[in-house]
Amino acid sequence: MREKTQLNLELSPKITSLQELAKAENECTRCPLYKDATRAVPGEGRKSAHLMLVGEQPGDKEDLSGKPFVGPAGRVLDRALAEAGIPRTEVFVTNAVKHFKHEMRGKRRLHKRPNAYEIERCKIWLDRERAIVKPAAIVALGATGARSLLGRSVTIGKLRGQTLHLADGTAAFVTIHPSWLLRIDDDADKQREYDNFVADLRPAARVLRKEVA
Ligand code: URA
Repeated sequence: MREKTQLNLELSPKITSLQELAKAENECTRCPLYKDATRAVPGEGRKSAHLMLVGEQPGDKEDLSGKPFVGPAGRVLDRALAEAGIPRTEVFVTNAVKHFKHEMRGKRRLHKRPNAYEIERCKIWLDRERAIVKPAAIVALGATGARSLLGRSVTIGKLRGQTLHLADGTAAFVTIHPSWLLRIDDDADKQREYDNFVADLRPAARVLRKEVA
């Protein structure tokens, strides 16, 4: 399926290095989320990565460490990537929203889903990351990543398993967010959904193998 949303590079500074981009993201005040977060969490990986993963937003651990997907969801992701034959070192891992949205429950910071406005305001940074890294393929992990990437609200179940083509020619895949797997109680269900997640990553692994061959 061919997607229409174009990269918008007009609204972000004309930055070409990931270091400068991380600094600009950290100074961003385009939505209120910067106020309660420790820092922005920029994408991580090589500028020459052929594959990009787009999650939702940093969680508690990511907000504290400044690195994406280092908490519980990151551990599931790492295991699934390894099983699909994708070395994390070959991937640029980022999020649709760069600041941790949360609410306080006692002393705990509980994740809150970013809304459409926050996703839209943050999209300039994802677009700039795409322009710098120029991946051959992008995998959206969950509805927020998919919304930012495709510029529309999507049902994951309808799009997973398909190869999408972004307006600039990049291949895109949509799958579930690994944190969803952590919330499944039944072991058999959890294993089945994990296997489906790994299966969703395999087409991206094939793109990667072609690019590095
Ligand atoms: N969930 C995300 O979407 N991104 C992270 O970086 C961590 C958890």
